[in-house]
Amino acid sequence: MIKFAGLSKIYPDGVQALQDVNLEIQKGEFVVLLGSSGAGKSTLLRCINGLVKPTQGKIEINGIQIGAENNCSLRKLRRQVGMIFQQFNLVRRLRVLDNVLCGRLSYSPVWSSCCRFFPRQDVKLAMSCLERVGLKEKAYQRADQLSGGQQQRVGIARALAQQPEILLADEPVASLDPKSSRSIMETLLEINHQDKITVIVSLHDVELAMKYARRVVGICDGQVVMDRPITQVGEKELEDIYGERPANKETGGAGLFREIEYACALSRVN
Ligand SMILES: Nc1ncnc2c1ncn2[C@@H]1O[C@H](COP(=O)(O)OP(=O)(O)O)[C@@H](O)[C@H]1O
Ligand SMILES: [Mg+2]
Repeated sequence: MIKFAGLSKIYPDGVQALQDVNLEIQKGEFVVLLGSSGAGKSTLLRCINGLVKPTQGKIEINGIQIGAENNCSLRKLRRQVGMIFQQFNLVRRLRVLDNVLCGRLSYSPVWSSCCRFFPRQDVKLAMSCLERVGLKEKAYQRADQLSGGQQQRVGIARALAQQPEILLADEPVASLDPKSSRSIMETLLEINHQDKITVIVSLHDVELAMKYARRVVGICDGQVVMDRPITQVGEKELEDIYGERPANKETGGAGLFREIEYACALSRVN
């Protein structure tokens, strides 16, 4: 379980990116963080893998607090938590297979990763991860020869090679066309189902959130303004708030964002 308690982050320039976030995410959940640009989604995800240090509050993963650790447990944390990025963050001139092997770095002694020596079983694992995302035949190509959707699949394979318990995806489809976006979301869902890995995805696309989320956490101005299962995001809530039923399914999606903005406006007033 991941537990956020009173989490706040103020960046050195004074920007308050997170404000008193309290959340519990159970093992094996598929959660979408939904919010517009600047809401605080990336900051929240980065707090989970230790890339951003909270100003206040704490995060626990399986009862162990992040941030209070020494180098050794930070390494363990990085192993536990895989990350997928909007811009893929691949080493473009390296082969696809080498990029996936980067997911094994936290398991290797420093000397072996310095000279890019990986044990045979790591190479086997990396190939099986590539097979899972349908890119085994691309293993020996340079990463920058692949399409955007394929590069993101390499990013997923790299994260899988890490054998993480938690997978964080920060706007993983924001740079992709609609078809590739759906296919990446389906792959993440499949990994969540098959491997029981907890998946937390940040999105700003409401339609995608409606289609794939199991639980939606709405973020606005660094605050959690909505948290509920997708089955409870629907016409009824919109009717309660706006006194009208959305005309069709599409407005249900747009309504979700409106609902988040509405909750956000309320929290500003209070
Ligand atoms: N490294 C940083 N230094 C200063 N401000 C930052 C930094 N990273 C993000 N911010 C600010 O924090 C707020 C939340 O940003 P972010 O977490 O990136 O939101 P999102 O991912 O939802 O777009 C924004 O106002 C952003 O400008
Ligand atoms: Mg972001």
